[in-house]
Amino acid sequence: MNEDTPHQEDLFAGLEAILFAADAPVSILRLVRALNHPRNRVEDALCALGRRYAENDRGVELAELGGGWQLFTKRRFSRAVESALGQPPRNRTRLSAAALETLAIIAYRQPITRGEIEAIRGVDTSGTLASLAEHRLIEVSGRSESAGRPNLYSTTEGFLNFFGLRHLGELPQPGAEGEETSADRGTLRVAIDGPAGSGKSTVARLVASRLGLVYVDTGAFYRALTWLALERGTDFGDPAALVELARDAGLELEVEDHTARLLLEGSPVGAEIRSPRVTTAIQRVADLPPIRNLVNGRIRELAGRLPGGVVAEGRDIGTLLFPDTPHKFYLTASVAERARRRLEDHRARGEAVTLPELEAQIIERDRADSTRQYGALTRLPEALEINTTGMSIQEVVEAVIGGVELRLAERASDAPGTD
Ligand code: DC
Repeated sequence: MNEDTPHQEDLFAGLEAILFAADAPVSILRLVRALNHPRNRVEDALCALGRRYAENDRGVELAELGGGWQLFTKRRFSRAVESALGQPPRNRTRLSAAALETLAIIAYRQPITRGEIEAIRGVDTSGTLASLAEHRLIEVSGRSESAGRPNLYSTTEGFLNFFGLRHLGELPQPGAEGEETSADRGTLRVAIDGPAGSGKSTVARLVASRLGLVYVDTGAFYRALTWLALERGTDFGDPAALVELARDAGLELEVEDHTARLLLEGSPVGAEIRSPRVTTAIQRVADLPPIRNLVNGRIRELAGRLPGGVVAEGRDIGTLLFPDTPHKFYLTASVAERARRRLEDHRARGEAVTLPELEAQIIERDRADSTRQYGALTRLPEALEINTTGMSIQEVVEAVIGGVELRLAERASDAPGTD
């Protein structure tokens, strides 16, 4: 082997430079000539690079097709767009493959900078972005790129109309199809959604302990990030700054006694994340799709490591976090009852609030939680709805466990090989 063999990373960089610039398959001979390295070294590097792409969460994959090597948008990204397109577009505008790929990247990761889009697609996207903006499928926000803060791209109402979607939560989940599901692995994902004060957290905690699963309070993530942003004086009107804070926040989960405890920079988060100032400011954080994707990614990571499974509660558990689980529940209760429950929590913490104040806050939170563009609180038709008004906690716990058992029994009798 050649003494001058460069470090593998240099070879990767050379391959990427050629493959990203090419718009057609590149033959192995052309790669060998351009990189000036033995064919077997280049082939090994192509395989290693392909594995790296397959394992990371970038949107590209590398494959040999039609006599050459080429980068493709990962199947899960393109499949997601194809199935979105499966519904007849509302107008006759035709979109190129490049435009569709770019739209898919923006839809799933918005708000996103042009640099991030190009890092995924690997080509200059200025023309595509301009044409998508012209068709009013995307919009640009943020300060001018020359002022040092990159522009952020997001999809518009026009995008939803074009694909016949009511909200972004209806977009198919990349990776949802064809991947191993929790049921395949024999682990449980119990998804409990519902508005504030519907009893989700108490019930989820008890269900987890009864079924030997781990309880995950997803709202704690949004609360911890909001608290951190308030502490650091982050500008809540600057989505890019909030996303950056979330990416750097060092959020971890640690399991103790059937509960996933949230750690922020290595320390458990405290009661300060439940303070009214956090609850008031939280929507700006929870509204941001990149933050939601980051939070849900962390939780899925934890869930994947647990042999038994999890009971997660929040607003987007059945729609975004675990869309494939058959164990979906939607807890509700009247506004009056939810305000009464919250009053008891506030009194226990020595905070002075009145019932009418709490009712007004609950109505406002319901509005914010159910109207956000991505991750909105949604009553899914397949979820088992439990109106907890007038029910005891124990009754609700029994209803959830009964629902889980019923679904398990249904699935067992549907399984091939059973009568
Ligand atoms: O569940 P909680 O009251 O602690 O949630 C506080 C806020 O966090 C809620 O008003 C919206 C947001 N949240 C969310 O957007 N998605 C979740 N899965 C959980 C909470």
